[in-house]
Amino acid sequence: MEKIIIKTPEQIVGIRKSCKLAGQTLEYIEPFVKEGVSTGFLNQKIDEFIRKNGAIPATLGYGGFPKSCCISLNEVVCHGIPSEKTILKYGDILNIDVTTILNGYYGDTSKMYTIGEISPIAAELIEVTRHCLDLGIQQVKPGNQFGNIGFAISKYVKSNGFSVVYEFCGHGVGIQFHEEPQIDHSSRRNTGPNMKPGMIFTIEPMINQGRAGTVVDKTDKWTARTIDNKLSAQFEHTVLVTDTGCEVLTDIYEEY
Ligand code: MF3
Ligand code: CO
Ligand code: CO
Repeated sequence: MEKIIIKTPEQIVGIRKSCKLAGQTLEYIEPFVKEGVSTGFLNQKIDEFIRKNGAIPATLGYGGFPKSCCISLNEVVCHGIPSEKTILKYGDILNIDVTTILNGYYGDTSKMYTIGEISPIAAELIEVTRHCLDLGIQQVKPGNQFGNIGFAISKYVKSNGFSVVYEFCGHGVGIQFHEEPQIDHSSRRNTGPNMKPGMIFTIEPMINQGRAGTVVDKTDKWTARTIDNKLSAQFEHTVLVTDTGCEVLTDIYEEY
């Protein structure tokens, strides 16, 4: 029944290291994210950095995904495929999603980047989405139910007029890329399993400017876009339930 893995102290040490590397990769790529650069070039730099640090990019070959990270531009919700033909332009917003495998352990994180000056609505969408991740993280503590993550997020998003993507979710992570449970970013209060110390999972809200629905590209079978072609934003952290609350494993700026 219950298939949510409780990680051992040894596994937690390994997953923590992989998560740190994933977080460092997002920081490393930042100065390269500029107008005129291709997302294929960013993918190449990310691949090099991950391998130089003794790890492997988890997305490469995962379910046939062809690249070492996901880069999702503007109306792309998630699973954007980096390409030499996709050139960043002034005013773009993009999410870069990196998953590392270090000594067999997975770390998964993503954040938004901006090119030049962006529109006020794009800036608001990004700030709302960043706060959604924070609200989700605030719900992580032993005994709380998983549904309260999505409840906190969806309640806040409704008050802002944006919408929560329900077709893609967070997930258990660490020993494998995608483990139980599924973490919905829109859910009902006091539903779902209880969080226990040693559980590790992602929270990765995708928030749309317009309608919540998504469409997967018919040709490449990966790129998920908003159904109305309006903007989408996403932030992702991997978190550990501790005895007293939560440790954000992919946050390289916090000392825990
Ligand atoms: N990193 C994504 C996540 O947060 C998953 C990407 S799977 C891929 O779960 F195949 F598209 F790479
Ligand atoms: Co994830
Ligand atoms: Co991810």
